[in-house]
Amino acid sequence: MTDAVRRHDPDQRGFASDNCAGVHPEILDAIAVANGGHQDSYGDDAYTVNLQRVFQRHFGDRAQAFPVFNGTGANVVSLQAMTDRWESVICAETSHLNTDECAAAERVGGIKLLPIDAPDGKMSPDAISEQAFGWDNPHRAAPRVVSITQTTELGTCYTVDELAAICERAHAVGMRVHIDGARLANAAATLGVGFKVFTTDVGVDVVSFGGMKNGVMIGEVVVVLNPDAVRGMLHLRKSSMQLDSKMRFVSAQYEALLDGDLWLRSASHANAMARRLEESVRSIAGVEVVRPVESNAVFARLSKVATARLQERFHFYVWDEATGEVRWMTAFDTTEADVDAFATAISKEAGAA
Ligand SMILES: Cc1ncc(COP(=O)(O)O)c(C=O)c1O
Repeated sequence: MTDAVRRHDPDQRGFASDNCAGVHPEILDAIAVANGGHQDSYGDDAYTVNLQRVFQRHFGDRAQAFPVFNGTGANVVSLQAMTDRWESVICAETSHLNTDECAAAERVGGIKLLPIDAPDGKMSPDAISEQAFGWDNPHRAAPRVVSITQTTELGTCYTVDELAAICERAHAVGMRVHIDGARLANAAATLGVGFKVFTTDVGVDVVSFGGMKNGVMIGEVVVVLNPDAVRGMLHLRKSSMQLDSKMRFVSAQYEALLDGDLWLRSASHANAMARRLEESVRSIAGVEVVRPVESNAVFARLSKVATARLQERFHFYVWDEATGEVRWMTAFDTTEADVDAFATAISKEAGAA
């Protein structure tokens, strides 16, 4: 027995982020199973070797999986592998890559980002075309990659056709497509199709595949779908400080997540809890759901007084101070009772305000 002390209430859950949830018990079990004995380091272990098969089953025979430490690292490694030093990446103005990664792509990757307008978090082929020019201009960082987030930072989900249209437009001018898939499982659950249908099959070249918002403890995976679209994967993780010496523990988690249906069970549940919340608050006077609920996030507007009072009891973030928009996120471990208690509190505070 250890002398470990529990310093939190394991029954307390909020609506701030799926990152706030713990580790799914099946993932913890997988880490324990992978423990003991010695295994080769830096990815030459039995778990990482088998992970290739797991990802190929989901993404197709050409897929190659490269575990890294986190989502920002996955984006930085992916985009470096997809660009030359003089090239740039088109992304949504609202993307995590652009707004919430402390300029890691720029600082660590040395990559110029070209942000564009993206209503509800989604880019369109036409908006991308506005920045897709100037490859022969020595004064302009040449656009080489379109980076999409699926599901988006605003909780919306590109349809298969929308993704296909973006890939077609990008490829027509020699550009490549990267998906920041921090919540790719939530997208698959929403779309009701496997990963391959809306990535490999529509022409996506590289995916930053996320599991940490879906019950994984540590690590995400760069999944190269088109090996012709990348260079230097052998070296880039190390030079970007993303090569894990004890990689077996990252890989074992992703085997547990993806070998069976844990990824889908967890993401479908999180999405269902967001829908339940939306349905419960939609008709409350003083609450306006302001974006389509297509994954595990609800964006709503309510009075600042009501928000402040709710935050005394429930953890969640104000998304936009100016407009009073808030974000409520659900996770694999959010219960119906959590949602119902929160909805009751929202009704009370919004009504009072
Ligand atoms: C869409 C998206 N991409 C990437 C990340 C980055 O993940 P990390 O914090 O693990 O670097 C996040 C984290 O919240 C995210 O929401």
